[in-house]
Amino acid sequence: MGPVFRGILAVMSTQKPVMLSGIKPTGELHIGNYFGAMRQIVELAKSREYRPFVMVADYHALNTMQDAVEMRRRTEELVAGYLAAGLDGDDIVLFKQSDVSAHTELAWIFDTITTMPYLMRAHAFKAHIQKIQDLSETQVGSVIKTSLLRNWFKPKEERSKYVSFDVNLERVLKSLAEISVGTFNYPVLMAADILLYDTKVVPVGQDQKQHIEYARDIAEKFNHVFKTETFKLPESRILPEVAIVPGTDGQKMSKSYGNVIPLFASREEIIKRVMGIVTDSGGERPENVYAIHKLIKSEEELAPLYTEHAGKYKALKEALIEDLDAFIAPMRTRYESLMQDTEAIRAVLTKGAEIANIESKAKMLQVKAAIGVN
Ligand code: ADP
Ligand code: TRP
Repeated sequence: MGPVFRGILAVMSTQKPVMLSGIKPTGELHIGNYFGAMRQIVELAKSREYRPFVMVADYHALNTMQDAVEMRRRTEELVAGYLAAGLDGDDIVLFKQSDVSAHTELAWIFDTITTMPYLMRAHAFKAHIQKIQDLSETQVGSVIKTSLLRNWFKPKEERSKYVSFDVNLERVLKSLAEISVGTFNYPVLMAADILLYDTKVVPVGQDQKQHIEYARDIAEKFNHVFKTETFKLPESRILPEVAIVPGTDGQKMSKSYGNVIPLFASREEIIKRVMGIVTDSGGERPENVYAIHKLIKSEEELAPLYTEHAGKYKALKEALIEDLDAFIAPMRTRYESLMQDTEAIRAVLTKGAEIANIESKAKMLQVKAAIGVN
């Protein structure tokens, strides 16, 4: 290939729209992550229609995971997980958020144009507050709750003048009342992640939809305040049929609910998790089993099986075990061998960080010019 052609190719590739997504390295990947987000990330990356950026959201993870050994291990696992799921380290920019300081720098700039009431409307924050409200009234009267929260900043001796409470209850309330600034600010850092690269599409599961809307709002606000067109508006890409993958209890599959099927589960683990699927007695078709089965086989493929074994939950669970194992096994093998080669994982991240730093520095020059600190 001649230099001119290579030059044209380079220009064309820079004109491709950017796709960016991220996952926090906070726990074992599960099939909800895979079907909701990772599979689309892999497909979009392979389509070559986008320039794919995939990020390990380690600074987001720091809100809940404050242990250096675990952070390192989970980061390696997540990168190996992405690669085992089909990403090719040579074709994508796979990087750690913490390796690119422009993310936190831009988040600060966004902080200055973002109001507290706006962030208080975020679902994740509201869910947190709801948890405080949901503490049963028998456990703690609403007067005590309010008083405790209002007086939290006072010294303990003084607080106990207002209310008396047992130590356990105090611990529960403390963890709820003392939400970190980082958790409150989560959507701002995420907006920076997305906007730094002029991202066009953000493939995610349904639970992230509002975060992408926040990124759009923040982009518009910045452009408006500084009378500029620095930021482009991103769009979420959520696949309706897998927007909320259910777990073994029928609720949304989530590592925080303990209802997951791990993406690289061993056969024994698959058996254990599938046998643990909650089956509501009575119906012909165990809905929680079927909902997971439908992820890996089409409804047409499943119809004869579910007709033949109507009402026989054990047989249907056994069929699901076989299908899940067949689906997971090749990825599990790749994952296990990648985990043997942590040097290679580090090399992918180093290369990714180099490119992400170059791109984001260029964007920060525009941002600094727009706000007048250049
Ligand atoms: P978890 O809820 O287990 O903590 P994360 O918040 O780390 O998962 O999610 C990482 C990505 O996987 C996000 O894009 C999220 O939308 C997607 N995801 C997580 N759980 C599900 C699910 N049950 N269904 C669809 N997508 C999901
Ligand atoms: N908040 C996302 C999650 O919990 C992770 C994330 C951080 C992300 N930054 C991002 C996702 C940017 C998409 C784009 O899953």
